[in-house]
Amino acid sequence: MQSSIATSAHLFVRFRQQKLLNLLSILNSLRNRTAVAKRKIEWKVFGLGNKTYEHYNKVAIYVDKRLEELGANRVFELGLGDDDANIEDDFITWKDRFWPAVCDHFGIEGGGEEVLIRQYRLLEQPDVQPDRIYTGEIARLHSIQNQRPPFDAKNPFLAPIKVNRELHKGGGRSCMHIELSIEGSKMRYDAGDHVAMFPVNDKSLVEKLGQLCNADLDTVFSLINTDTDSSKKHPFPCPTTYRTALTHYLEITAIPRTHILKELAEYCTDEKEKELLRSMASISPEGKEKYQSWIQDACRNIVHILEDIKSCRPPIDHVCELLPRLQPRYYSISSSAKLHPTDVHVTAVLVEYKTPTGRINKGVATTYLKNKQPQGSEEVKVPVFIRKSQFRLPTKPETPIIMVGPGTGLAPFRGFIQERQFLRDEGKTVGESILYFGCRKRSEDYIYESELEEWVKKGTLNLKAAFSRDQGKKVYVQHLLEQDADLIWNVIGENKGHFYICGDAKNMAVDVRNILVKILSTKGNMSEADAVQYIKKMEAQKRYSADVWS
Ligand code: FAD
Ligand code: 2AM
Repeated sequence: MQSSIATSAHLFVRFRQQKLLNLLSILNSLRNRTAVAKRKIEWKVFGLGNKTYEHYNKVAIYVDKRLEELGANRVFELGLGDDDANIEDDFITWKDRFWPAVCDHFGIEGGGEEVLIRQYRLLEQPDVQPDRIYTGEIARLHSIQNQRPPFDAKNPFLAPIKVNRELHKGGGRSCMHIELSIEGSKMRYDAGDHVAMFPVNDKSLVEKLGQLCNADLDTVFSLINTDTDSSKKHPFPCPTTYRTALTHYLEITAIPRTHILKELAEYCTDEKEKELLRSMASISPEGKEKYQSWIQDACRNIVHILEDIKSCRPPIDHVCELLPRLQPRYYSISSSAKLHPTDVHVTAVLVEYKTPTGRINKGVATTYLKNKQPQGSEEVKVPVFIRKSQFRLPTKPETPIIMVGPGTGLAPFRGFIQERQFLRDEGKTVGESILYFGCRKRSEDYIYESELEEWVKKGTLNLKAAFSRDQGKKVYVQHLLEQDADLIWNVIGENKGHFYICGDAKNMAVDVRNILVKILSTKGNMSEADAVQYIKKMEAQKRYSADVWS
């Protein structure tokens, strides 16, 4: 099966810059019909996208269309996955129709029942030299003990935490102001860049998962790819211990995707429980509904599933194979390098919530950070690297700017304002800086209140604050923008100012963009379509920028 379809192009397209470049170079090599005919290209494409992006699955659609134009032979119709809904479900639904068609096309007999095959084999290594065992390094062995620049995603810098203080004054939630030292790291940043942080999982959760799998967490092991041609020999740095893998390398608190449930089902000794897991992994309407309510709405992670499905006791090495890699978390840097060249400030809200099953779920990185309090002379460090962004102040300081950043969306704007204050202090002429900030209550979560008010007093900042819960009716940043339509048009339309949004991608950023369209169309006498085009042009000119997350 494998070899007979190896000559066809399998393109699982992900709309990311690097992948896009790779794809374009593949397509470039297939520039003409002769090259395509010579290579007898046969293809099927499944795109991995997210509908919250404007260019939803654009690359997959382009590749599919281009291959058709070049005369290649489409084996199966284009599939599109939407990560904003359930991308795995989209893929499984597509795949279930794809296999019979592809088997038919290549004249191969279909296998009938799907057989679950493991990608990695377990090798226990009790005799490996202790200094050959990975202890949480991202790539190079001993990179934690022997720190060597350049620091990047594969080689993070252990940054000492100088300050970690609470920003909220009440309300029961927590928002941290953290100052990391990057002195001696040779890392540089500009206001608007991101700092990425590698967190570790909660110790007690790791212990619990070990117990639920009847594992000795100190066993030294490697998972070895059974596909010897693959460039990825291990799913994470090996040899290591289960404790390290579960602490540093695997996402143990994420909500498991359905393929994990399918694999877990095989370890249930109770038929009813096996059926429950199998059904949630299926594409039947009842199964999907159950997956939504029992897993997603109930926010059950792998530990909760094994706690509640008592007859399911998978071997720990298989759990390590199934769980996704623990990802670094990104934070918009909330300082300016002009003022703080060797410090990076972070403004992070603690993730902690009660689930419908009565459990308290805690965010991995923010809980890790909350517990990282510098004490006395003892250094507390976190592994970080800096990622450059496109979110930038205008090149000319005289250009006026509008910043919209409710909640932690304020983060990069604190850096922008610091920078503009610095320039003013140097005697430079600086354009108007207008900030739309929003939070629940003035007395509770008005972060950086005194700093903001100081900048207002100095004439550096024009501040507009929306306290959504300080009155009966909700007031959001977009309501204030709408009231200030003349000012917005004056800055953007008449003075070619820049417009920035930062914070929640799902609701706030969409609502703010819609209000901007409305303002531009009324004040600029444009149709709605022209106002949308106007924003697109601003984006191309880097006069409209968004730094948003969900
Ligand atoms: P995780 O362990 O990753 O858990 C978060 C997940 O928990 C959520 O995705 C959601 O699925 C779930 N969840 C959270 N609350 C609930 C709830 N009430 N009910 C059900 N499920 C829930 N964050 C900041 O605080 N400040 C920033 O400046 C900042 N900048 C960012 C910049 C970028 C470019 C990006 C991509 C993200 C940024 N973030 C920022 C978000 C940050 O990266 C993390 O996602 C966030 O801190 C949570 O990480 P965590 O590991 O603590 O939580
Ligand atoms: P709320 O929680 O009272 O609804 C920072 O999180 C601020 O953003 C809070 O005041 C929050 O208000 C507000 N907020 C919630 N949804 C929003 C939206 N769609 N647009 C703008 N602000 C929003």
